[in-house]
Amino acid sequence: MAATIVNPLREGLRLSRTPEPSTIVIFGGSGDLVQRKLMPALYNLALQRLLPGSFSVVGAARQPLTDDQFREELHRAVGEHSRTKPINEEVWKSFADHVFFIATPDERGYDQLSRRLDQLDTELGTNANRLFYLATPPGAYEPIVKAIGAHGLRGRTGWARIVVEKPFGHDRESARALTELIHQVFREDEVFRIDHYLGKETVQNILVMRFANGIFEPLWNRQYVDHVQITVAETIGVEERAGYYEQAGAMRDIVQNHLLQLLALVAMEPPAAFDDKAVRDEKVKVLRALRAIADGDVARSAVRGQYASGFIEGAAVHGYREEPGIAPASRTETYVALRSFVDNWRWEGTPFYMRTGKRLPKRSTEIAIQFRVAPHQLFSREASEGLDPNALVLRIQPDEGVSLKFGAKVPVQGIRIRSVNMDFDYGASFMVDAPDAYETLILDALRGDATLFTRRDEVDQQWAFVDPIIAAWAASPGPPALYEAGTWGPAEAEALIERDGREWRKA
Ligand code: BG6
Repeated sequence: MAATIVNPLREGLRLSRTPEPSTIVIFGGSGDLVQRKLMPALYNLALQRLLPGSFSVVGAARQPLTDDQFREELHRAVGEHSRTKPINEEVWKSFADHVFFIATPDERGYDQLSRRLDQLDTELGTNANRLFYLATPPGAYEPIVKAIGAHGLRGRTGWARIVVEKPFGHDRESARALTELIHQVFREDEVFRIDHYLGKETVQNILVMRFANGIFEPLWNRQYVDHVQITVAETIGVEERAGYYEQAGAMRDIVQNHLLQLLALVAMEPPAAFDDKAVRDEKVKVLRALRAIADGDVARSAVRGQYASGFIEGAAVHGYREEPGIAPASRTETYVALRSFVDNWRWEGTPFYMRTGKRLPKRSTEIAIQFRVAPHQLFSREASEGLDPNALVLRIQPDEGVSLKFGAKVPVQGIRIRSVNMDFDYGASFMVDAPDAYETLILDALRGDATLFTRRDEVDQQWAFVDPIIAAWAASPGPPALYEAGTWGPAEAEALIERDGREWRKA
């Protein structure tokens, strides 16, 4: 069997990062998220010996499964989706010995779950430290949260925390109601709202880049930055998620959470400390300063699109409305482009352009800080023809890294200037596989570190920004503009930025 390479850097982290003995209770049994993300993440944590010695996983769902059936399903899923392959059977076996399943179709099921958790505490010495993970569709949250309260699942000793997947609510009002519901059983500091982008290494690196270095921050403001572009581009379509996506659309699926979190990290002030309170306090200030796109401005500052048929990497693909489960006249947007401003001292007047879409030509998430041009043009217009403005590009994925674009002399007689890139490449510099975002986030939740999770006030501000745009779209008679799959979105998105005399980067 090929040996799995354990990252030596993470070995060094082991002592400080190993959580206390505990149990993770996953509602949603062996659903899609559990199979694709949670179990591969837990297995990889086990592989890196980052889980506590005494640890158990209890799956709960309506339909009955034996422990062995549950383990078999998970083994298959981990085999398929783990970032490290093949499965290390020895590690899997000792991990799977502590994986259990309880069916919770009714009150009796929850009583049984409660008894099983107490029993595991006694057997494993886990002191009723419990992390509850809601990996079900949002419609199931309410009965589950209520059952956790009613059946005393929190246990009498130890800590209890709850992880809730995104999108958190469907709009501002429902997000507030969900928080109220959860607060019937958990305090706010026990609530871990996941936005998996925050667990990505390269997203965490935004803060390291900005605040561990002295050279960037002096330039990071309206005086030197012309504008910021944030792109989350995907080549995939809606896949098998029609039911969810028809209700969500790109605005709720990506903008409300991932995109606005990226914006907050890029625009925030230096926090007083690297801890959950200080970091989230600064992020929420940015979200509060984010200028609302008022009703009358939606047509100019917000564009929505929907993919039509086209080609992705040479293969013909269906349009959104032809995908299985999608209404033939669906008005759900699969593309959004926005222009807004952060109205504060640092950023006044600096546009932030954001775009996201499915079925775009390339998978690419990046943040580009585009700087102002040099104040005085020393070289002739002809010599500078190949010169673009300076840009610092944080490549979140794929090809993770950072590049700085600047002008250099072409080595020929006379002055000719071209843009070149100074590049930092994660893979080449560190030679280790980055952990998956879910590994980082589950570990943090087990340790009680909420820095990379979103607080209620952040989520609230995020909805406050997107709700009016969604409402204006719902009220407007026209459908989203169509764009051919495999192109960079509708023409209206080009017009949005060109009106300001700028253009989208070729991401
Ligand atoms: C999820 C969205 O949150 O993020 C998906 O629901 C999207 O629609 C996915 O495809 C993208 O995540 P990643 O990690 O592949 O960039």
